[in-house]
Amino acid sequence: MVEAERMRVSVIGTGYLGATTAACLAELGFEVIGLDVDEAKIDLLRSGKVPFYEPGLDELLTESLQTGRLHFTTDFAEVAEFADLHLICVGTPQRDESGAADLKYVNAAIDSLAPHLTRPTVVVGRSTVPVGTAATLAARLAALAPIGEEAELGWSPEFLREGFGVEDTLRPNRIVIGTDSPRVEKAVRALWQQQVDEGVPFLVTDLQTAELVKVSANAFLATKISFINAMAEVSEVAGADVIQLAEALSYDDRIGGKFLGPGLGFGGGCLPKDIRAFMARADELGVEPALSFLREVDAINQRRRARTTDIARQLIGGNFAGRTVTVLGAAFKPNSDDIRDSPALDVASTIASLGAHVTVYDPAALERAREAHPELNYATSMLDAARGADVVLLLTEWAEFREANPEELATVVAQKRIVDGRNALDPTYWRASGWTYRALGRQ
Ligand code: UGA
Repeated sequence: MVEAERMRVSVIGTGYLGATTAACLAELGFEVIGLDVDEAKIDLLRSGKVPFYEPGLDELLTESLQTGRLHFTTDFAEVAEFADLHLICVGTPQRDESGAADLKYVNAAIDSLAPHLTRPTVVVGRSTVPVGTAATLAARLAALAPIGEEAELGWSPEFLREGFGVEDTLRPNRIVIGTDSPRVEKAVRALWQQQVDEGVPFLVTDLQTAELVKVSANAFLATKISFINAMAEVSEVAGADVIQLAEALSYDDRIGGKFLGPGLGFGGGCLPKDIRAFMARADELGVEPALSFLREVDAINQRRRARTTDIARQLIGGNFAGRTVTVLGAAFKPNSDDIRDSPALDVASTIASLGAHVTVYDPAALERAREAHPELNYATSMLDAARGADVVLLLTEWAEFREANPEELATVVAQKRIVDGRNALDPTYWRASGWTYRALGRQ
């Protein structure tokens, strides 16, 4: 840990990626400073509170703050003075209808940091960016930094999943660094020395390949989910069962069972916007046909939301107007309070717009959901949410919902009807308790 104790690292941007990275690096023994332009967020982090739900991160943050190895600031001059390695972890949201990535936060991070760089420094981007961005940023950094080309930029994409951020950061499945600079490579190697010693693959590539690794990984995952959801569409009309189909496919280890879970499909702050930004970039590069299949991946994903709404409508006799509907789940996936492009909330608000009285319950995302969707009603427990329901929809597969007791739920609903949007329940068990059970891709 000698090397770790020596290296001082800054983490710029303290969202899901940055806050998790900062706490984990301090845990690994580095001296870390986290920066954000949002003062309220920095105040929370300084007091040991994580501004979002991420299992295990609260404890890690408190521990790291207590070691004295982790600090937070809003001041770029302080960060430049403190650290020799800067990690850019800001967001790259979808810009507009074009689907292209909005690079304003990445550009602002470089523009704010560079003028303070007066000694040789390594800057490493971790945000997800369109291929070609890093080369432009490297030139911008060298042009704006007083130290000039001794401020060097590399790109090292991250692959952490929300809900497993701490685990994925401390035990990544690979480290990729895009650079042709021995100094950048050395700094990134030192950062992950412990993991590399434990056998984690360490790949050095050019900038463009490193950028592409990230977006192509997310494009592949999205494609795998939409593939099985396309099979669900076929299964529904052909009289087949997509769950058995997925299981049978999974035993072929060339295919594998992960990310082959049929249901309401993908959402969140990454997969949907990343495939759109990837298509937009391919278009700019003149290779639009190479990624046109991703348009279908996106379309299949959107159709699952519409299909879920249709199944619920059929179950209650064809019309939502004046009916009472319960939605279990608001987060885009369990173990997260992230509601960005949440399939659950999309379906809930569509049903509300069709005239139903919709009540939503989620173990972690209620506050965020209430802010974003004031047109919906909210309850603070599953049973309260289900009171008087004409139909219940399970749209985010939290353990609490997977383990729900059909007999207990039956005591509060008006009608025992359930749409399992995540194929999370055992149909036999629920039907045996008198429920009308419907799911995507099954009879
Ligand atoms: C995703 C990637 O999995 C990470 O590797 C990547 O680092 C991250 O994006 C990122 O770009 O930062 P995340 O957005 O946290 O991570 O969520 P996932 O676990 O990938 O789930 C995405 C969506 O797919 C969720 O809505 C989930 O419900 C859905 N999903 C997942 C399915 O519908 N079926 C499956 O079989 C698996």
